Amino acid sequence: MPPEPSENRELNSSRWFAPDSLRGFGHRSRLKGMGYDDEDFRGKPVVAILNTWSDLNTCHSHFPERVKEVKRGIWQMGGFPVEIPVMSLGEMMMKPTTMLYRNLLAMETEEVLRCHPIDAAVLMGGCDKTVPAMIMGAISADRPAIFLPAGPMLKARWKDQTLGSGSDAWKYWDERRAGNLCDESWGQIENCIARSAGTCMTMGTASTMSAIAESMGFTLPGASSVPAVIAEHSRLAVATGRRAVEMALTDLRPSSFLTPASFDNSIVTSMAIGGSTNAIVHIIAMARRAGIELTLERFDELSRTTPVLANIRPAGKFLMEDFFDSGGLPALLKELGSHIDGTCRTVNGFTLAENVAAAEVIDADIIRSLDNPISATGGTFVLRGNLAPSGCVIKPTAASPRLLDHTGPAVVFDDYAQLKAQLNDPASNITADSVLILRNAGPQGGPGFPEWGMLPIPDHLLKQGVRDLVRISDARMSGTSYGTCVLHVAPEAAVGGPLGLVHNGDLIQLNVEQRSLNLLVDEEVLAERRKAWSPREARYKRGYGAMFLKHVTQADAGCDFDFLHHGADTPDPDIF
Ligand code: FES
Repeated sequence: MPPEPSENRELNSSRWFAPDSLRGFGHRSRLKGMGYDDEDFRGKPVVAILNTWSDLNTCHSHFPERVKEVKRGIWQMGGFPVEIPVMSLGEMMMKPTTMLYRNLLAMETEEVLRCHPIDAAVLMGGCDKTVPAMIMGAISADRPAIFLPAGPMLKARWKDQTLGSGSDAWKYWDERRAGNLCDESWGQIENCIARSAGTCMTMGTASTMSAIAESMGFTLPGASSVPAVIAEHSRLAVATGRRAVEMALTDLRPSSFLTPASFDNSIVTSMAIGGSTNAIVHIIAMARRAGIELTLERFDELSRTTPVLANIRPAGKFLMEDFFDSGGLPALLKELGSHIDGTCRTVNGFTLAENVAAAEVIDADIIRSLDNPISATGGTFVLRGNLAPSGCVIKPTAASPRLLDHTGPAVVFDDYAQLKAQLNDPASNITADSVLILRNAGPQGGPGFPEWGMLPIPDHLLKQGVRDLVRISDARMSGTSYGTCVLHVAPEAAVGGPLGLVHNGDLIQLNVEQRSLNLLVDEEVLAERRKAWSPREARYKRGYGAMFLKHVTQADAGCDFDFLHHGADTPDPDIF
């Protein structure tokens, strides 16, 4: 049973509103100046709604309505709702990459929760980085917090085709470059591929991270799969507001339910849904905020034993709306059985097992059973070798089987600008056997760890019918991307990693089954090249970018800032 609210608990907000002091007078009088009276807020839990809405975050365009619904739930339970805008991080409009700003939103979330009269928070996010960022901040602030996912867009249709945002944009762009798609068709796809408010409707990073939030216990049951614009999503928003008040009254903080098993559950979930490779970086970062040292080895262990059950693009066939109609994440978690630790507690006060007990799979092709998986092992593999001593990742379910064991000559691009300039240059001499290398695209090199890891296929190969090549980079790739792309190579080239030592024509050996990635060049030769290597000039010399470059950690450590990991307590604002 969920814990009973304690009426005697002293609310954090009462330190602002209860004292008979000049400051208490000031706090109360200013709320009254906004039109509230004592009945609205005195002695009531203050629930903050941290809202990542903006006109430039296309995935959160329904949030103004959802905020009203969350507030309705908070009022219903006797709470006092306050809306606080925080950095929006809309994936589609920000350059160079939202990943440059994930830690900034995490810091903002943490500090907003700490410095205001807040007893609990509803975290409204969904578009990729907003999910880990808000959860990282809430873990560090350790205030009661519940996550409300934006939910995926509805499925898109073009002619007789069902379209998934992201994945089909890449696919049809390649067809256009191959000369197979006219202007009119391309325009029709542009008009229909984003069919509604909500996040990308494939199992991209947004849907992956929302599923991870649910499996860690940060949402109401089933919240991560509900499409953004259906009535259930409105009711979810109201219910989330109601629950946030109960969490305030019972002081249900992240530290009271997050355990190492919660993070294992998040890894197993991301593997079983065939989720985005980006999840690895974000899960490590969230765990470290909680003082739990997750390493790539743990991902590798769990990927070897976790089957992929969700038949969702880009690793499968269907879309998020189908996943929801088929039972959503609760049905998948129930199907996973003992792969999940059902004893972990969640924000609704129940355990994960209790939350999914009544779930059922409606379509066994969309949510597969353990004896009929999409793939017997997990959706993301961790590789190592002399090209990636600290590890790298690949999503084999989104790769071409013929390339999973491949040795080929390197074609090296020193940075993204060179890639764009020279990809289609015949002098680059790219063939179907080539291994494309992009370096200086990692956390420091990008900078900001952009999603450039699905390097484009050159036009001449597209015209020959080639749709995949082995591609290796220290970048990330979008969760909606696909192909034989080795990502997150660590350490990255910009800090002296071996990726920076590769020359055109060097043989690269990829063996996914053996989890290996090697540069077939003698160590003596590499030692000579290492002596000749020197770092590039830092791109940012001032401002947030300079702080990012000074403090961001490598991919295998989660790319958080080194000073934000779990550690010494931050002073309470009341001591000043
Ligand atoms: Fe926002 Fe894909 S662009 S989730």
